[in-house]
Amino acid sequence: MRDKLEEILKIAVDEIVKTNSADELEQSRVKYLGKKGELTAILRGMGALTAEERPVIGQLANSVREEIEAKIAERREYIGKIEQERAFERDKIDVTLPSKRHKLGKLHPITQTIYEARQIFLDMGFTVVEGPEIELAYNNFDALNAPKDHPSRDMTDTFYINPELLLRTQTSPVQIRAMRGKQSPIRIISPGRVYRCDGVDATHSPMFHQLEGLVVDKNITMGDLKGTLDMVAQKMFGAGTKTRFRPHNFPFTEPSAEVDVSCFACGGSGCRLCKGEGWIEILGAGMVHPNVLDGCGIDSSVYSGFAFGVGMDRVTILKNSIDDMRLLFENDLRFLSQF
Ligand code: DAH
Repeated sequence: MRDKLEEILKIAVDEIVKTNSADELEQSRVKYLGKKGELTAILRGMGALTAEERPVIGQLANSVREEIEAKIAERREYIGKIEQERAFERDKIDVTLPSKRHKLGKLHPITQTIYEARQIFLDMGFTVVEGPEIELAYNNFDALNAPKDHPSRDMTDTFYINPELLLRTQTSPVQIRAMRGKQSPIRIISPGRVYRCDGVDATHSPMFHQLEGLVVDKNITMGDLKGTLDMVAQKMFGAGTKTRFRPHNFPFTEPSAEVDVSCFACGGSGCRLCKGEGWIEILGAGMVHPNVLDGCGIDSSVYSGFAFGVGMDRVTILKNSIDDMRLLFENDLRFLSQF
């Protein structure tokens, strides 16, 4: 029996040191130390031994078990280490590999123009307000002093929803919303979409974008309007840009002007962009008509104001040398992503 025990020890240790995984090691443990294991079988047979032999063999069997257990523990630690190394190897990542490129979207060129203009006005102390695209005919025309027979009110010029409601033809009704029931001073801009019954061509679209401006306070003069627009023109089109005011007529301003900027491509000497003129028409402006102020509850004998409206699509086209407005709305990413 002594020989048998020593043989088991030798075979078990040989086997244990050859195991290469936690599973293999566990199989060996069960084989030698488990309930149905070889060592257990020997211990079961101890009943047949003499009274002298029994403690001697018992002690030997215990020390064999302890040795096998110690070997298993030692091997378990070793296997744990190599399995960890294998896992490190398997899960290794190369941090020097280039990453996947994410495609970043960008703002539409018109939105870029609006944001640029908005920032210029914010820096000058203006507040941005918005008005609805579906507007009361009253705010779009009547409150802006547009006479009942004004051609822009015609069904063929304006998208009516019903006789009282329409798609606004201009951002000017936001002036009315800003003034009505408010205390002066007012200093706002309002960018947004406007709609007119126009056919689509290189310079027209039934939907386009305007940016409205309005300042109301005591002692506001045409000089304030000129100074403001000069400043904006230089920031928007480059230092040295000049403005030119030409008399015009808008129902809601008196006096009214169309405003040109000196051509930012040729500096005023005449080129293809300005069609040889040296000037480019950019906006409408004027001093708020007393009827409009009074209609909104602002006393025109105390307060005065100026207003202007700029076409943002047109500014975008001019600034980016785009020769056809349709390109802005066809949404071809190959075109739009250039800006
Ligand atoms: N609303 C005018 C248009 O659509 C533009 C305009 C002209 C706005 C003069 C104004 C202004 O505020 O004072 O043509």
